[in-house]
Amino acid sequence: MTPRWDGLVVGASLATLDGDGYGAIDDGAIAWKNGLIAFVGPRADLPGSPSALAAQVIEATGWITPGLVDCHTHAVFAGDRASEFEMRLEGARYEDIARAGGGILSTVRAVRAADEDALYAQSRPRIEALRRDGVTTLEIKSGYGLDFDNERKMLRVARRFASPALDVRTTYLAAHALPPEFAGRADAYIDAAIDWLPRLHAEGLVDAVDAFCEGIGFSPAQTRRLFERARSLGLPVKLHADQLSDLDGASLAAEFDGLSADHVEHTSEAGVRAMAAAGTVAVLLPGAFHVLRETRLPPIDAFRAHGVPMAIATDCNPGTSPLLSLRQAMQLACTHFRLTPEQALRGATQHAARALGLHDRGVLRTGLRADLAVWDIRHPAELCYWLGGDLLSRAVVAGHPAYTRHVIHPSET
Ligand code: NIG
Ligand code: FE
Repeated sequence: MTPRWDGLVVGASLATLDGDGYGAIDDGAIAWKNGLIAFVGPRADLPGSPSALAAQVIEATGWITPGLVDCHTHAVFAGDRASEFEMRLEGARYEDIARAGGGILSTVRAVRAADEDALYAQSRPRIEALRRDGVTTLEIKSGYGLDFDNERKMLRVARRFASPALDVRTTYLAAHALPPEFAGRADAYIDAAIDWLPRLHAEGLVDAVDAFCEGIGFSPAQTRRLFERARSLGLPVKLHADQLSDLDGASLAAEFDGLSADHVEHTSEAGVRAMAAAGTVAVLLPGAFHVLRETRLPPIDAFRAHGVPMAIATDCNPGTSPLLSLRQAMQLACTHFRLTPEQALRGATQHAARALGLHDRGVLRTGLRADLAVWDIRHPAELCYWLGGDLLSRAVVAGHPAYTRHVIHPSET
């Protein structure tokens, strides 16, 4: 007789996040069939012995959470900007470095110089690091190409990271910075970015459209023109909003029923209300806040008061957030933004999935995707407590084994 389930994990506690709080189940069991969760509950409620129920039974310890969702990254890039880090430590400001042709444009030069294979090879260790710390769904933006061929190259490389072990979503961010060939012609550049979008969409390379709406980026009027094109193509939008100043980007994202407004440190009460009304998620990026040594906190209390879901992401990028662990971003969200560890975990799972328009994951519930992370911890708060470390023992993506840690003990070497 074929077993009713494809896989079953027993022996660990579950943080299902179903309902309020962690949705904790001690000594739990979770099973899947055809990539979807088929059972979640106490092991004592299993309708038989594990080996009779599933083709594969995994004995685990610690805690199982939904697989982590990193909903805002620029993880595909070439080169690094460690020298700008040193300049900032000596007092240079991010905006000044950008205005002097460094910043995003220095990464644009490196990306344009790299062919697809080189870009893939350089990006791969970062994506592996994110996976090794529990990420099972990863968003990757373009935005360091800034011409048709190079934006396409970035999106193609990002898509190459999709596998049975990692679900990848790609976001078109051509409106990230003004390339030198368009200097002084930002409106003409937006026209070009609007022209490239349907062509890249037709190649199946775009899941969402983003822009950097900022003094050193693009104006609300320019962002609006791009968003109108996205809407006409049926593509959802997200926005780098109110990071360094309040241009009311949050309201603009909400006006287009945006999936998310990201950064949002300078977002006003009116912006928060607009997001609440539109169901737009606030994506907090504490890595950039930390690295830029910002002091202006996002309006966390207002997000809570108005019921705006808060997601957390790494913003993995070479300039403002060279951060290779979503768990570390959760830690920073707790220490800098005063999220509770439970809110941080929900922010890196359920709310992050929603920031990508995904409603089939982020919670351990029957019928949702079997995306799980198994952690060597005694309590879920430890996910936000340790700085660094190697806590992930196993990951499962849509029922596929996505990661198994192999520890080689010194005695075996
Ligand atoms: O999310 N703010 C704009 N974009 C990135 C930074 C990109 C870069 O500096 O390379 C961010 O912080
Ligand atoms: Fe970003």
